[in-house]
Amino acid sequence: MNNFILSNLNKLKQISIPNPEIDLRVLLNYSKYVKNEIILSNINIEHINLKKFNKFLNRRLKHEPISKIINKKSFWKDDFYVNRFVLDPRPETEGIIEESLNLIKNKQKKFTILDIGTGSGAIAISLSREFNNARITAIDISDKAIEVANKNIKNKKLLNKIVTKRISIDKINTSFDLIVSNPPYLSKSEYKDLSIGIKNFEPKIALNGGDDGLNFYRKLAQKIPKIMNKNAHLIIEIGERQFNSCKEIFKLSGLNYIKKRQDLQKKDRIMLLSKL
Ligand SMILES: C[S@@+](CC[C@H](N)C(=O)[O-])C[C@H]1O[C@@H](n2cnc3c(N)ncnc32)[C@H](O)[C@@H]1O
Repeated sequence: MNNFILSNLNKLKQISIPNPEIDLRVLLNYSKYVKNEIILSNINIEHINLKKFNKFLNRRLKHEPISKIINKKSFWKDDFYVNRFVLDPRPETEGIIEESLNLIKNKQKKFTILDIGTGSGAIAISLSREFNNARITAIDISDKAIEVANKNIKNKKLLNKIVTKRISIDKINTSFDLIVSNPPYLSKSEYKDLSIGIKNFEPKIALNGGDDGLNFYRKLAQKIPKIMNKNAHLIIEIGERQFNSCKEIFKLSGLNYIKKRQDLQKKDRIMLLSKL
């Protein structure tokens, strides 16, 4: 490998970036003049826009995630535009899409969905792709997140299927057949312990669930029975240690617990509930 590659790899290694080779390759490929893929072992430096590359590398050296630098993150079957105003959609959240597919076998069914805290719009868009006839409302309290969701919805040509609203969950007054949400659920101490890459580059409003992380679930539990149609379901993401608390919170609000789902690390991650 040539000196250019070795010295830049070293810079990434020195600050313990977990996959320096992969990151370097991605950054180079996003800084190239040419069409063909850049490969570390036989790179031609003349193919690289060095000014652009150095800017990208300096951002990575400050621990900014690759997704925020290249404005792209994959989720379910699509790539999404992301920036520092939205949480990067994460693989464990794909469980919400899988549970929706398990629940609603008829993919042509006409029904309504509410996505609470849509962020990049990843959940709403992925559900819209799977359920062609679903009418989806995607809400978020953050203006900037709604801008990102709108951009993704427009890019995927789903403007006629998904309506977005900048509104808090407390203000929703219509009812839905399926409600999905990946809410902010980190406790104060979990938030404090986050890596720099998350704490400095993901929005706090997307992560912070109050002292014990359960604030949003309590708020939701009060509201949710009033905005669920008869036979409606709620599919919600939870923190890895929140299953018992969430079960209790939603029981008190009169919802019927159906099942939970674990992620690939066997951590409790998704709950399915219904209206009694
Ligand atoms: C964990 S992020 C989820 C983003 C996206 N749904 C995903 O799964 O990748 C939570 C989102 O909830 C939004 N949010 C926080 N409080 C809210 C509220 N009271 N009403 C609606 N959205 C809220 C935040 O702005 C943030 O975009």
